[in-house]
Amino acid sequence: MKKIILVGAFISSQIFLFAQVKSIIGAGKEVDPFHYAIIKSQTFDKASVACANPIAANVGAVIMKQGGNAFDAAIAVNFALAVVYPAAGNIGGGGFLVARKSDGKSIALDYREMAPAKAFRDMYLDSNGKEQLNLSQFGHLSSGVPGTVAGLFAMHRYAKLPMKKLIQPAIDLAENGFAISEREANSLNSKSLRESFIKNSTAVPVFVKDIKWKAGDTLIQKDLAETLKRIRDNGQKGFYEGKTAELIVAEMQKGNGIISLNDLKNYQVKERNALSFIYKGNTIIGMPPSSSGGIIVCQLMKMMEKRYLDGFQTARTTQLMVEAERRAYADRAEYMGDPDFWKVPIKTLTSDAYLQQRMMDFDSTKATPSKNIKVGLIKESEQTTHISIIDQYGNMVSITTTLNNSYGSRTVVAGAGFIMNDEMDDFSVKPGVANMYGALGGEANAIQPGKRMLSAMSPTIVLDKNNKPFIVAGTPGGTTIPTSVFQTLINIMEFNMNATDAVNQPKFHHQWFPDEVQVEKTFSPDTRKKLEAMGYKIVEKGAIGRTEVIKILADGKRETAADKRGDDSVAGF
Ligand code: DON
Repeated sequence: MKKIILVGAFISSQIFLFAQVKSIIGAGKEVDPFHYAIIKSQTFDKASVACANPIAANVGAVIMKQGGNAFDAAIAVNFALAVVYPAAGNIGGGGFLVARKSDGKSIALDYREMAPAKAFRDMYLDSNGKEQLNLSQFGHLSSGVPGTVAGLFAMHRYAKLPMKKLIQPAIDLAENGFAISEREANSLNSKSLRESFIKNSTAVPVFVKDIKWKAGDTLIQKDLAETLKRIRDNGQKGFYEGKTAELIVAEMQKGNGIISLNDLKNYQVKERNALSFIYKGNTIIGMPPSSSGGIIVCQLMKMMEKRYLDGFQTARTTQLMVEAERRAYADRAEYMGDPDFWKVPIKTLTSDAYLQQRMMDFDSTKATPSKNIKVGLIKESEQTTHISIIDQYGNMVSITTTLNNSYGSRTVVAGAGFIMNDEMDDFSVKPGVANMYGALGGEANAIQPGKRMLSAMSPTIVLDKNNKPFIVAGTPGGTTIPTSVFQTLINIMEFNMNATDAVNQPKFHHQWFPDEVQVEKTFSPDTRKKLEAMGYKIVEKGAIGRTEVIKILADGKRETAADKRGDDSVAGF
């Protein structure tokens, strides 16, 4: 099965550039940044990638075809996304990798941003103690110290090919350009985004043009190409020290930011113990704190494990899942934060006894109201991005990475051409004040210098009952990330769906506060009515998540699906 959507991105004047890119990538016809197709699902024999952009997916597949493994592909795809998917692909943000090597070793890399040394608990409160969310969500002060480049170098320990080879496709794409899709053009044409870029950057970034973008336009990013070349030539220091670091700090100083040269030099990736648990004989491997994702997915799955699910998105199944979600998100707000600063009771929170007790007050006939402390608002069109990869050797890599908001802080580092994150908003800026996803938090996630802000990102891997590769999954979506991953796993493991259905079926979400069930427009009207009768407030939302799934079939083939909700695409062989 192969579902293809052609992108109207043909530009005759770019043939020369296209030929040049092709030859540098050495990829034959596979990577053509001016003529490409979005492939939504395909089953591959050996290796595959699903990610937010077809050019980047192709780069990953080509790297594996050339002998690279899933880690090589992950690095190349990440760098490529930093060019072709500026809304979330990044070098100015951070992320998490969960992987399972073909030798059976699990890996969890935490390259989440860190609060700068000058950060402090009340830095986003005015003199009356009122939160100033414009400062935590936009502009120079909203950025944490980026972790992505350090993360990619940490991943490289498990890769086979030289870093120079893995970064080159991104350099070519930035230097020679690529044809943007209609979705990207629409996104860049947003009036508020344009104004926000101009307001929050000290030089006008390449994303801002006098005339409107249209599908097929070439986006060239010369400054970004130079930054990537410094990384290619000087390694991690090409970002965290020297010219790039100086450009970041100069940008910060022009805009009241606080990231210093020392902050950049001191950034550290943390290798954590992957959080794994058994669900009906399958092993699920997820990300421990500083993401809440792994714990929440574990709690949700375990709260389901011993209960009867009578069908996909029936009122009974949905109510059960919603009540589990309500409880998991209440735990998140109270207990979770950066484990280097706050003792997170992971063992208890994920124990069978605790979770059984947590569902004791579950009433299958009506909604259990969340105690009304603070109602947060969930916004749409935030952006993060997920990459799922499996290679021909059996290595599985699941990465979620983000700038937080779509196009991050909207601060583009002058002369360096990349967008800084606005991840500081993922801290709890004040107890009881919701972040941009409506998430609440307290002491566990208060701002401290050097601390990582709590995430919901949930890169996930599943092994079957024989410990063989089964699923690679993950998604963007702020607080909806763990609940989307949860639904995807339930769809496959309980309702036996193929990867495409598991990804594309309607999604729903509850996060304790606001006390409402968010549903996509296509969610079953019948179930909706039944839930309303039980006392649930149902709120329609736009798209929930952009999930990328690889399901490894019994014959070893890789059924690979990219979410219909974006330009997401698969590639492989
Ligand atoms: O780390 C987190 O949980 C958020 N910063 C993720 C943001 C996100 O997923 C936005 N995407 N839609």
